[in-house]
Amino acid sequence: MRSLVIGGAGFIGSHLVERLVARGPVTVVDDLSVGRREFLARAAAAGSVELVVCDARDVDALALHASGQDVVFHLSANPEARRGLVDTRLDLEQGTLATYAALEASRRARVTRFVFASSGTVYGETDQACAEGDLGQLPISLYGASKLAGEALVSAFCHCFDISATIVRFGNVVGPRATHGAIYDFLHKLARDPSELEVLGDGAQSKPYLHVDDCVLGLMFALDRGAPPFDVFNLAPDGATTVRTIAEACVRASPSPKATIRYLGGERGWRGDVPRSRMRADKLRRLGFSLALTSDEAVLRAVSEVAREVFGAPEGPS
Ligand SMILES: NC(=O)c1ccc[n+]([C@@H]2O[C@H](COP(=O)([O-])OP(=O)(O)OC[C@H]3O[C@@H](n4cnc5c(N)ncnc54)[C@H](O)[C@@H]3O)[C@@H](O)[C@H]2O)c1
Repeated sequence: MRSLVIGGAGFIGSHLVERLVARGPVTVVDDLSVGRREFLARAAAAGSVELVVCDARDVDALALHASGQDVVFHLSANPEARRGLVDTRLDLEQGTLATYAALEASRRARVTRFVFASSGTVYGETDQACAEGDLGQLPISLYGASKLAGEALVSAFCHCFDISATIVRFGNVVGPRATHGAIYDFLHKLARDPSELEVLGDGAQSKPYLHVDDCVLGLMFALDRGAPPFDVFNLAPDGATTVRTIAEACVRASPSPKATIRYLGGERGWRGDVPRSRMRADKLRRLGFSLALTSDEAVLRAVSEVAREVFGAPEGPS
């Protein structure tokens, strides 16, 4: 299987590429705005990986590199929902238009399999644990809006052209090589100021977290089991982890475990942030896929993995 991974030098993408090389050659398109060449080192040591540095909105370039591929994975996006508050065009450009470009390039190159990395933000703000059909509330961030717009484009391309697509809506993904997110932010803040950790919101925000290894396994499972021409899956644990739990775990994993945590207050981290979200992944479970780690387990494992990246390996007993 020949694969094109758009955004493949990023956090999730680089882990995905490590799995995909076992199935055949992989071409990665990434502008390296967030992703890094070195994230692909392990995959390149294991198989054929070509990195093409270009903009994911360039349809002609994408079509060129999509030609001859069996599947296109579209993972590039604005990595941080809150950036949409300062640049309202960002998610339109890096989300909606980049998704259009990936689909149009696939159509022109006659690639018939497409996988889109979406997010639980499409469910908006609701107390409900959302299954795939629960789109009664609309997104409340520009990032979530671009994901929902992207999903609509994927559906339309599938029904108008010879493309079969699988959309996977992730919970919050954590693990090594993270480029953003609460664990990444907290540990880097602690590296800059070991005495105090400032946390947005009151710490009670809670979301489902999944480890990047589980994320990639789920993505591959969904690729293999998604029904043509268009299928959607949630990929997240049933439970959730609070920001307070994450902050405390980050402090414990840092070289200064006595750092104080200062919560800035308010029920949400920023406008557009959903303070409490839950997802149901029964559909994948019914097909036989289950996550190895709960939300809390994924967080604790990722905290120690990212802490090792930020602070180095902890010293053993002398
Ligand atoms: N990490 C999460 O918790 C999470 C949750 C839900 C959905 N997702 C989605 O999964 C996908 C991957 O997320 P990630 O966490 O690996 O993010 P990431 O930022 O680490 O990876 C995205 C990659 O896309 C590249 N990129 C961005 N804009 C580009 C452009 N215009 N042209 C070419 N390359 C471009 C970046 O350099 C980066 O390598 C994204 O679509 C994201 O929205 C992530």
